[in-house]
Amino acid sequence: MFPSLRFLLPTLLLPLVHAYFVVNSPAKGDEWINGQTWGVSWTKGLQDDVDAFDIELSRMSTDGIIYVASAVPALLGSFNLDISGLPAADDYYLLFINSTHGVLYGNSYAFSIVDSATNASTPKLDSSKPTVSVSGGPNPTAVFATTFPATANSAMGTYIIGTGVVGMMGLAVVSMMGGAWAVL
Ligand SMILES: *[C@@H]1O[C@H](CO)[C@@H](O)[C@H](O)[C@H]1NC(C)=O
Ligand SMILES: *[C@@H]1O[C@H](CO)[C@@H](O)[C@H](O)[C@H]1NC(C)=O
Repeated sequence: MFPSLRFLLPTLLLPLVHAYFVVNSPAKGDEWINGQTWGVSWTKGLQDDVDAFDIELSRMSTDGIIYVASAVPALLGSFNLDISGLPAADDYYLLFINSTHGVLYGNSYAFSIVDSATNASTPKLDSSKPTVSVSGGPNPTAVFATTFPATANSAMGTYIIGTGVVGMMGLAVVSMMGGAWAVL
């Protein structure tokens, strides 16, 4: 529903608001295998005053948010995501959001997480970037277990992240904002 906005942004709005956010990976229809490491990457405008954001994994058909990483420096551009034990489904998407006030900056297309390879994508990894690990499904008690250090864009390391859900704040914002996030 929202991804089509991404194409309108650069052509229609960029000259006016400098707001621009494209999730390059996962790409539309990508298939990620549990137990492997996958690249997450994005491209954003520089003049939108968004220096960092939180990343959440969600699904279109069910409630619940899996917290991936918090305070991710926008300039990092990519990181590696090690997934295991996530429920297999074809309607996952990543949200790039400020979870404090719920403002959504961008989101990926829908992609799949599977337990074994049927049509797996090629992992787009960058060994110079940190690796974040998520495991298990939405969990009602956990929150972001790890926050990126301010220097993460120059550091190489592994961050072990818990998963969890805190209700529907992120998704509620998605529906409320509709097309409006383009001008944030
Ligand atoms: C395999 O995945 C690609 C996208 O990664 C998709 O375009 C293609 O249709 C898929 N093929 C099958 C047989 O599912
Ligand atoms: C989210 O917004 C709050 C309030 O503006 C800010 O203090 C916080 O740093 C932001 N979060 C991130 C990850 O940038």
